[in-house]
Amino acid sequence: MSKTTLIDYWDDVSIQYQMYMQSIRQLADAHALEHGEKPRFIIKTYGCQMNEHDSEKIKAMLVQMGYQETEQLESAQIVIYNTCCVRENAELKVFGNLGALKPLKAKRKDLFIAVCGCMMQQPHIVEQIKDKYSHVDLVFGTHNLHALPRLLQQALDSEDILVEVWDNEKAIIENMPVIRKKSLKAFVNIMYGCNNFCTFCIVPHTRGRERSRLPKDIISEVKQLVADGVKEIMLLGQNVNSYGLDFEQPNSFANLLTELNAVAGDCRIRFMTPHPKDLSPELIVALRDLDNVCEYIHLPVQAGSNRLLKMMNRKYTREAYLQKVADLRNSVPDIGISTDIIIGFPGETEEDIDALIDLIETVQYDSAFTFIYSPRQGTPAAKMTNQIDEAVKHARFDRMLTALNTMIISNNKKLIGRRYRVLVEGTTRDGQYLMGRTRNNRVINFAASDDLHGQFVDVKITAARNFSLYGELLR
Ligand code: SAH
Ligand code: SF4
Ligand code: F3S
Repeated sequence: MSKTTLIDYWDDVSIQYQMYMQSIRQLADAHALEHGEKPRFIIKTYGCQMNEHDSEKIKAMLVQMGYQETEQLESAQIVIYNTCCVRENAELKVFGNLGALKPLKAKRKDLFIAVCGCMMQQPHIVEQIKDKYSHVDLVFGTHNLHALPRLLQQALDSEDILVEVWDNEKAIIENMPVIRKKSLKAFVNIMYGCNNFCTFCIVPHTRGRERSRLPKDIISEVKQLVADGVKEIMLLGQNVNSYGLDFEQPNSFANLLTELNAVAGDCRIRFMTPHPKDLSPELIVALRDLDNVCEYIHLPVQAGSNRLLKMMNRKYTREAYLQKVADLRNSVPDIGISTDIIIGFPGETEEDIDALIDLIETVQYDSAFTFIYSPRQGTPAAKMTNQIDEAVKHARFDRMLTALNTMIISNNKKLIGRRYRVLVEGTTRDGQYLMGRTRNNRVINFAASDDLHGQFVDVKITAARNFSLYGELLR
């Protein structure tokens, strides 16, 4: 059993919620009888895969309560915004969309509006919602989404906005219902929370401390997904490298991967996100040796100079990071490497950008998510006095991006002629090509018939147009 982690199984938890589920279901059934169709809900999800996966759980609860999903706001009885606060932009979008709901709510009193997710874990945001967005009916957080049936019932019974946000994590709830968005690919949580407290980051404040799921629960979920025909599983955690360290008898992420590899059949396994500080030699061996574990790693570097890395509290040096990348490249041929980068952290100088560009060119990333630093209330970096001027941030961002993009485009050209096995996972937006993903996470577009969807096929890269790779199907 784990030392710090409390596990509750949904069957037990839901006994408390069955009652609420049933009473909401009666309301939904009455609506269905009157209108000839089930009432509808719409969930808008912001932020990362954690939130995406939480929304899949919320959706499953609503379906159990007799609702059906819609894409149209106008036809929804329930609107849920699952929010993100990692950067200010994400918050502004939510406030904008919430504001736009005001006239609709004025017209349709029966419209039920709920907001949940990371933003709601911040007391100043909840205050803002109460003050300026009083047309909202329900506010809940990241730690109590399993309580939705009760919250929905209580909010429906209340005249006022109902706010229930738990300020810390309690038990992990296992076996919650979930309706996954895709049938080919699935998210699986392996741990929750983060203990790292990078000085720019709000996530440890919104998601609580690290808690790992028991291996047996993860394995049985993965087995079921494989049996259901899922072809790619993404293991989720804010820092998957510390998986199992919270157990009385500590386990490791590499061990978990070994166990999952054994039950994965022909399903690919990926994971997100490993923190560079804890990237172990065992994980590199696992990436090299385990058949189902894809040769791809997302390794957020954030900055290129030791001075900034220290101020960010990232707990690794530029040299240690580069050594790990070299070890990965030596052990795992053709591994795909991507990263996250922040520009405009307080105190940043042009020399820090030079060092970052030098690091980018040394690593030769396949892709990168690049962000402009956004001060987050309650984090140490937001209080630093040497904040960078917005115009300077943007100029530096452009300089970094030019170097990054030039490198990526030139590397893509070098791939022409290479052959890869891809999982066919969709079509391009214009419907002209199928889209397949290689094990090292490159997307190749190629012309072929739609019935290949969901299959593994071999493709040869024939062209590289900027960021997109094109290929032909090999028979
Ligand atoms: N747990 C993951 C990252 C989660 S947040 C990890 O440690 O890698 C995703 C990315 O958002 C981070 O890697 C970082 O690059 C970016 N980010 C986080 N806080 C930010 C902020 N205040 N401003 C700009 N970007 C930020
Ligand atoms: Fe945020 Fe750092 Fe934790 Fe990632 S490791 S979630 S960047 S505090
Ligand atoms: Fe994810 Fe945003 Fe929360 S990045 S963990 S949804 S703050």
